[in-house]
Amino acid sequence: MEVSGHSGELVIVTNREPYNHERASGGVVCKKTIGGVVSALDATMQQWGGTWIAWGSGRADFDCGDVVEVPCDSPKYRLKRVKLSPKDKQLYYWGFSNRTLWPVFHFFTERAVFSTMYWRAYQRANKKFASSVEEMAGPDSYVWVHDYHLSLVPSMIRSCVERIGFFWHIPWVPWGTFSKIPWRDEIFNGLIGSDLIGFHTKYHVRNFIECAEAMNYQVDKKRSVIHHEDRDVRIKAFPVGIDYQEFASEKTMPSGIRRKAAGDKIIFGIDRLDYTKGILERLLAFEEFLRENPEWHGKVTLLQVATPSRTRVEEYRLLKQEVERSVGRINGEYSTLNWTPVKYFYHTISFNQLIQYYRAADVALVTPIMDGMNLVVKEYIAAKKDLGVVILSEFAGAAEELEEAIIVNPYDIHALAESIKKALEMPEEEKKERFKALKGKVKKHDINWWMEKFFNEWEKIYTAKA
Ligand code: G6P
Repeated sequence: MEVSGHSGELVIVTNREPYNHERASGGVVCKKTIGGVVSALDATMQQWGGTWIAWGSGRADFDCGDVVEVPCDSPKYRLKRVKLSPKDKQLYYWGFSNRTLWPVFHFFTERAVFSTMYWRAYQRANKKFASSVEEMAGPDSYVWVHDYHLSLVPSMIRSCVERIGFFWHIPWVPWGTFSKIPWRDEIFNGLIGSDLIGFHTKYHVRNFIECAEAMNYQVDKKRSVIHHEDRDVRIKAFPVGIDYQEFASEKTMPSGIRRKAAGDKIIFGIDRLDYTKGILERLLAFEEFLRENPEWHGKVTLLQVATPSRTRVEEYRLLKQEVERSVGRINGEYSTLNWTPVKYFYHTISFNQLIQYYRAADVALVTPIMDGMNLVVKEYIAAKKDLGVVILSEFAGAAEELEEAIIVNPYDIHALAESIKKALEMPEEEKKERFKALKGKVKKHDINWWMEKFFNEWEKIYTAKA
């Protein structure tokens, strides 16, 4: 196995697994899990082979042992599943990961729960992942750990693994926010067990370096390096891309979406139902737009898909109710016999359907309150065949690259409402100019570019040492 020209097996470690086994009426079925990054990494693993270590969350995951070959119909790599007790699942995943780290790293500190019980379970779960790495990785392995669920793993495996990379997929906050976490020292120390730590944006890199300085680590800002225990830890931005061809290819079924008349417009949003995604603010903005622009009544539809997520966390359940109330209020106020302004779906949709919606949408409304990167915006740009318009939050990591979108502050409901009008009424020439530039960027900086960039940087570290 070669990783970017070097011998050594690739071992990926994530919380979410790429495939799970579930019990169905006809027996056990093996299903691919949904999620941008997981599918991107799966494509690499299928190409390169190796081992993927993840939490076995499917009901039938351990029916045939804890190591399986995947994809189930044509195996290309090994999947080693980590078993978590129901209590640890509750406290580590639903608790520390999603009620402590997730809100803090999205600047929602007032929503964060700081509980010693959660923290202990997080340590226990990280230890289990680390033990699986020790079991599966060889001396030449490249161990690539991902995301906020597993921040302690790098230091835990340092004594038995030589090459450790880490990618942090959500925002990294400034010291003023990070310092609120009672276990900040342990988390930081866990991460810098890595040789290379990647973030999506330069802003997140700056914040991480700022935290290192505040915690009195020795920092070389010019080289973007933190010196720790006779090692240099390199910190760098690698904005993740998508599998451009998968979204751009023609192979999907023809669109089943019918327009009433040529002038009718569709605005599209799709997100996990998460308070960081700005769905409520988006609805308020659409409501204001309708109030201010009666000439658009009957001619524009907001199609909002919210996929169920983390449904056991109270904040997510409350958000669902609020979103439903807002949709009901807007539709109650403005609907006519022939027109429903907001079409709202609370369920997952198939890939084919997703592509159809992207292609039918005149405008993509991607307005998270805070987001590490946001891949929806890139998927829309890749999938859309004719000209599209993108409204993008300045707080999505993607805004650092995609400057040709209409960039908005999602807290500013009035500005958001005006950007909807601007998008719908944008002159063809301007649309063309902006969309061409956006497509060029998304196509060039795709998932393969991201992998290569990360691996080149990672390898450089060991070549310099040799
Ligand atoms: C974000 C995180 C991922 C996570 C995904 C879905 O994108 O960065 O690590 O897998 O959300 O959330 P879930 O809790 O369902 O895994």
